[in-house]
Amino acid sequence: MELEEYCFETKLLHNRHKVDSVTGAVSVPIQHASTFHQFDIDQFGKYDYARSLNPTREALEEVIAELEGGVKGFAFSSGMAAISTAFLLLSAGDHVVITEDVYGGTYRMVTEVLSRLGIEHSFVDMTDLDQVKQAIKPNTKAFYVETPSNPLLKVTDIKAISQMAKEIGALTFVDNTFQTPALQKPLELGADVVLHSATKFLSGHSDVVAGLAVVKDKGLANRLGFLQNSFGAVLGVQDAWLVLRGLKTLHVRLEHSQKSALQIASFLEKHPLVKNVFYPGLPNHPQRELLDVQTQGAGAVLSFELVDEEAVRTFVESVKLPVFAVSLGAVESILSYPAKMSHSAMPQAEREKRGIKNSLLRLSVGLENPADLIRDFSQALEQVQQKKLVLQQGE
Ligand SMILES: Cc1ncc(COP(=O)(O)O)c(C=O)c1O
Repeated sequence: MELEEYCFETKLLHNRHKVDSVTGAVSVPIQHASTFHQFDIDQFGKYDYARSLNPTREALEEVIAELEGGVKGFAFSSGMAAISTAFLLLSAGDHVVITEDVYGGTYRMVTEVLSRLGIEHSFVDMTDLDQVKQAIKPNTKAFYVETPSNPLLKVTDIKAISQMAKEIGALTFVDNTFQTPALQKPLELGADVVLHSATKFLSGHSDVVAGLAVVKDKGLANRLGFLQNSFGAVLGVQDAWLVLRGLKTLHVRLEHSQKSALQIASFLEKHPLVKNVFYPGLPNHPQRELLDVQTQGAGAVLSFELVDEEAVRTFVESVKLPVFAVSLGAVESILSYPAKMSHSAMPQAEREKRGIKNSLLRLSVGLENPADLIRDFSQALEQVQQKKLVLQQGE
């Protein structure tokens, strides 16, 4: 059986870097050298300087390229470094069409940096293909998709957007952080560049900040490789090793968390103090059918709206299990408050236009037993109820 024929979870363990060819080590060696001796003045070796290429980072780049089904992977010092470097494929005068409820850091990059460099943008609800079509301009050179989107978990049709992009000679970028290649393979659906905050599910333990990009085409690989080396925001070797280690358990982590996420979403959906639950795994999610066609599962992130901001405060003060923090995709459940965390870079008016209310919380489900999480949320919602009663009595 060839490597390419293995199932995804087998590939996570049995890939080209399973055994070090020199020592037989079963863990990729960390190569700290920043420079490499050249034995021949005319013919330099494969490695010369570690910003350009380093064997440890290269192992991660090869593994992620294989998992995403691309020709080449690139590892960066953060998800934002990967995203920003990919945006450098564009030039002054170009225009990008982008998912409206995109990660706040990407929003900041597009609105405050790219616009200063003369790259225009239009935010659209990417679930509405007519809106996307209407946003196209003669200078549109890229479509930037985040699906499911952050934090409202809207699902975009990657195939349809990629097709639209191809018709006008534009590129399609997909941020695949929430799904990972375990659940979604954007390159197979027609995208040109896949981007990741590897800080999240890929590494999975809240102990590393990293970014990855994978491309489908050799010409694009040369252009992005040139930019990676020119901009220089490469991933350090210790961090590359941590991502490689985390990747080995990606499938089991995601499988457990995804199952729990559905149970938690179903519990929250029935609770009278919860106004709305956003989780594409729920049968009534507006893009549920598309999700089933496009991905292998709904992932482990959900958002929910409580009755008001005061309820959010009480809930956050009362929950005991999840950490209340920025980030997602870790072994521990992470509860976050988009308005003040992931989307704080977005002005309140822009947030509200997109439905990112001050009463919205986002939950990334970890590896705890879901029954414990549901018990914890139940008691926190009980506290919300108690506080409401006290306030009403005081009125
Ligand atoms: C969907 C998404 N994309 C990109 C990023 C940026 O990644 P990083 O924090 O690794 O720079 C994040 C971070 O939260 C994210 O959630």
